[in-house]
Amino acid sequence: MHIYRFDSPKLDGLRRHEEDVPRPQRGEVLVRVHAVALNYRDLALLEGGILKPTRAGITPVSDGAGEIVEVGAGVTDLAVGQRVVGLFHPRWFGGPKRAERAIGSYGYDSDGWLAEYKVLSREAVVPLPDNLGYEQAATLPCAGVTAWNSVHGSAPAGPGQTVLTLGSGGVSIFALQYAKAMGARVIATTSSAAKAQRLLELGADEVINYRETPQWGARVKALTAGRGVDKVVEVGGPATIGQSLQAVAFDGEVVLVGFLGESGAPLDYFQLMQCGASLRSTNVGARPMLEACVRAPIEPLIDRVFGFDQARGAFEHLRSGQHLGKVVIRVAE
Ligand SMILES: NC(=O)c1ccc[n+]([C@@H]2O[C@H](COP(=O)([O-])OP(=O)(O)OC[C@H]3O[C@@H](n4cnc5c(N)ncnc54)[C@H](OP(=O)(O)O)[C@@H]3O)[C@@H](O)[C@H]2O)c1
Repeated sequence: MHIYRFDSPKLDGLRRHEEDVPRPQRGEVLVRVHAVALNYRDLALLEGGILKPTRAGITPVSDGAGEIVEVGAGVTDLAVGQRVVGLFHPRWFGGPKRAERAIGSYGYDSDGWLAEYKVLSREAVVPLPDNLGYEQAATLPCAGVTAWNSVHGSAPAGPGQTVLTLGSGGVSIFALQYAKAMGARVIATTSSAAKAQRLLELGADEVINYRETPQWGARVKALTAGRGVDKVVEVGGPATIGQSLQAVAFDGEVVLVGFLGESGAPLDYFQLMQCGASLRSTNVGARPMLEACVRAPIEPLIDRVFGFDQARGAFEHLRSGQHLGKVVIRVAE
């Protein structure tokens, strides 16, 4: 089979290798991978910063979907031919967030999905409904679940509430779609006029260009009659948190998700205290959230699908920031 590995932990070190197809042991399944999807994390793991850089020899990509082609001894709940998607945290099955959830993290602690075949624990995959294709399903484990957790995780957003999404990356588009599906109003930001139009077409009620309106927090307040939004899906990090605290309602929630801009003004303690909102830090989500995502009434937005031999080009496209929605690699034709 063919499998990609970072021969050195940088993008031009990504190389295709030929290796034996692995065999499933007791409690495991062998999956023929059909599609994988990229996340900002797949680039961040190469660059260091808040995430520790990955190591040479690792297979990247946390998210994938495929078909079971062999089951190991003791697997009675899954069968050959079944279509599945993988969990982002292969050992977080439910319950509170604990440090152990990150054990086996794909692309860092253990090999990820960028291969023609992958062996997984039977508990680390979720069966797919018939209406969800492999490429769509592959977009869900990280970005979909994180957005689901952000929008539904504590007090679910719904009619009469407003959600603020930042930029038009994978997590933000899912957050927009889930919030709209639950009847909430969505205010979105972006840096691009063309993307603003697409966001409106996807259901955003208002769009603000964060380059043209750097004080977008005040604009959000004005759009909500001075109250602020009920939820901010905060993917920008240090670059955006100050404005997010301006934009949130006194009894709202800022969900701390990302770090797209790692530099920014230091957090103002008194602004944090006086905004009145609660802050919740996310780390993707547990298995029940992926089970909810595969049944959610939305269609994952795919920006572009690359071939298996174009894997490096897919990473470069993600790095360019030109995408809107998810970047997918089709592994099996
Ligand atoms: N904590 C968790 O559980 C978790 C899970 C998933 C992801 N994350 C993190 O969440 C972040 C988003 O991930 P992703 O995969 O959705 O990223 P992505 O798809 O690569 O997002 C790229 C988009 O982000 C927008 N952006 C960049 N800088 C921005 C800024 N300063 N303000 C507002 N928008 C900005 C741009 O949108 P425009 O072109 O429209 O301006 C860009 O196209 C990353 O930091 C990722 O590591 C965290």
